[in-house]
Amino acid sequence: MNLNGKRVLLIISGGIAAYKALELIRLLSRAGCKVTCVLTKAGAQFVTPLSVQALSGEKLYTDLFSLTDDSEMGHIELSRAADLVVVAPASADILAKMAAGLADDLATTVLLATDKQVLAAPAMNVRMWQHAATQANLATLAGRGVLIVPPDEGPMACGEFGPGRLAEPPVILDAIARALGASGPLSGKHAIVTSGPTHEPIDPVRYLGNRSSGKQGHAIAAALNALGAKVTLVSGPVAIPDPLGVTTIHVETAAEMLAAVEAALPAEIAVCAAAVADWRAASLAPHKIKKNADAQPSLLLTENPDILRRLAAPGALRPRLVVGFAAETQNLEENAAAKLARKGCDWILANNVGGTGIMGGAQNQVTLITADGAEAWPLMNKSALATKLAARIAEQKL
Ligand code: C5P
Repeated sequence: MNLNGKRVLLIISGGIAAYKALELIRLLSRAGCKVTCVLTKAGAQFVTPLSVQALSGEKLYTDLFSLTDDSEMGHIELSRAADLVVVAPASADILAKMAAGLADDLATTVLLATDKQVLAAPAMNVRMWQHAATQANLATLAGRGVLIVPPDEGPMACGEFGPGRLAEPPVILDAIARALGASGPLSGKHAIVTSGPTHEPIDPVRYLGNRSSGKQGHAIAAALNALGAKVTLVSGPVAIPDPLGVTTIHVETAAEMLAAVEAALPAEIAVCAAAVADWRAASLAPHKIKKNADAQPSLLLTENPDILRRLAAPGALRPRLVVGFAAETQNLEENAAAKLARKGCDWILANNVGGTGIMGGAQNQVTLITADGAEAWPLMNKSALATKLAARIAEQKL
C-alpha cells in the first residue's frame, strides 16, 4: 500500500485497545504516511507518550503542552494540517463528545475545529457499545459523514464477550487508505453477498426458518467493502445492524432473495452465505391455521429456488467468482466437493455445524474447497474469517 506523503492526525483516546494504536502508527509509517498524534489524558493511562512519539517520529501533542505558546502549533492549525483525522481507539466518551460538539480538551477541540474527513474506530465494553446512547451517537456521526470502522466481536479484556474490540490495525489501515483515496485491491469490482436465514410463511403469523444469525455473511460484505469493492448485501431477517458502507437489501423469503440478487447483477463476485430455506409451504394459508383436537394439520412443502446454483449457471451475467457455503454435519470434504460440482460454483467453504454452536456463534471453522483441492482454515472469529476470504478473493484476477 502506498500512502506516500499523506498526513494523518491520529487521536488516541482511552481504553485497553490503545496499545493497538502503536501498531497502527507502525503500519501507517511503513505505508509512507506522516503520522502526528494527539494522546488524550485517558489514552496516556494505557500507552506512554514516549512510545507514541518514538514510533511516529513526530512531535506528540497532549494537554500537557501549552498550545497558546508561540513555539507550539495551535489547535486550529493542528486540526487542518492533516489530510485525515483518525480516532483510534475511539472510546464511548469521545464519540459522545464528538456527537455533542464538546471541546473540553485538545483532542475534542481539534475534532470540532477540523475541516478534514474524520474516521473513528470505536472500542469499548460490549454493553457500552450496544447502549442506545452510543448507537445514537454513532448514527449522528455517520450522518455527518464521519467514517466508522466497526469493532470486532470476541472475548474482551473486561471478561465479557461480544462486539466492542477495536478492529485489527490492518483493517483500520485499509479504511484509512480508502478514505485517503488510495484504491483497495477490489476497487471497481461489484460483489453480491447473501446473508442470514429466509423466513417462509405458512400462514399470516407462522413461518419456516432456521438459526442463521447473518454474522458470517454480513462480515464478508464488510470485508469485501474494506478492500474497495462495491457491495450489495441481500439479507434475510436478522437482528444485527447493516454493515456500514454497504448497500443492504432486506428480504424475507428465498423467492425475494433470488429476485434481489438477480436485480443486483452484474457483479464480478458472488458469495452466498445465506442459509436459504430449502422448502416453502406449497400454499400460504390466508388465515391463521386453527388448532383442532380431532385432526393434526399437515404441511405440504415445495422446493425453493437454489440461488447459488442459479448464480453459478453459465451465462453472460455469471459472476467471475461464485462462492458458496456447505453446512455439513458429516463427511465434510466429500459432501462439500460434491456440492461444488452440483452447484457449479468455483469455491465452497465447508463448515461442520454439528453441535458446535457455529450457527449463530461468533466463531467459524471452514475448509476451503476449490478445483485445486481442500484447505482447512483454523477456527477463528467470523470477522477474521471474512477478512481472510476477502484477501483470498482479492488475489484472483477478476
Ligand atoms: O444445498 P445447500 O443448502 O447445502 O447449499 C448451501 C449453499 O447454497 C450456501 O452457499 C447457500 O447460501 C446456497 N443456497 C442458495 N439457495 C438455496 C439453498 C442454498 O443460495 N435455495
